Amino acid sequence: MKFFMDTADVSEIREGMSIGMVDGVTTNPSLVSQTGRTFRDVIEEICTIVNGPINAEVVSTDTEGMLKEARSLSEIHPNIVVKIPMTQSGMQAVRVLSTEGIKTNVTLVFSPTQALVAAKAGAAYVSPFVGRLDDISKVGMELVEQIDTIYQNYAFETEIIVASVRNPLHVLEAAMIGADIATIPLKVMKQLMEHPLTTSGLAQFLKDWEKVPK
Ligand code: E4P
Repeated sequence: MKFFMDTADVSEIREGMSIGMVDGVTTNPSLVSQTGRTFRDVIEEICTIVNGPINAEVVSTDTEGMLKEARSLSEIHPNIVVKIPMTQSGMQAVRVLSTEGIKTNVTLVFSPTQALVAAKAGAAYVSPFVGRLDDISKVGMELVEQIDTIYQNYAFETEIIVASVRNPLHVLEAAMIGADIATIPLKVMKQLMEHPLTTSGLAQFLKDWEKVPK
């Protein structure tokens, strides 16, 4: 299972890298806006930090605009994956880009049929947003299970990126399903390493160590 970091904050990415947890990065327009930096500047720097897929999203809503942005983004670095929204125009762009060898990640996926269409269009990755489904009282992880079944039924090579991850349980469930990738905020990455018994156990060991003659 691969872990991507879901952030545009390079200091967070460096921290994730230092603990060996970053196989790739996903960004989106909202995350980039939080940095106060230009989109290109952020993406270029991320490409110097992480040697893995770096996901950069288009903001055009028409196919021609998406294609233009995608081609320009793909020139930044060979690791760039272009995030395309799950729309009809988006699927037209994905189809063209796949013939040009430009990898795409179809984003804002909330149903299994959207994921099926994305795979048929030639997407390299598909991003079901589990947290946002949970937010509206749907079980987000059921979507991941459905996509996984569909992709196995037809041997699609499209990889599943479990996105909109909000807590360690999302990562656990994604791993139990066998999802290819989870894209995770730094806060949740840190939670994956934590356990209260580890904390209290270490505190007790250190306390007892003080009684050992030195
Ligand atoms: C995925 O690529 C998205 O950037 C992200 O996971 C969205 O997460 P959110 O629902 O917490 O904004």
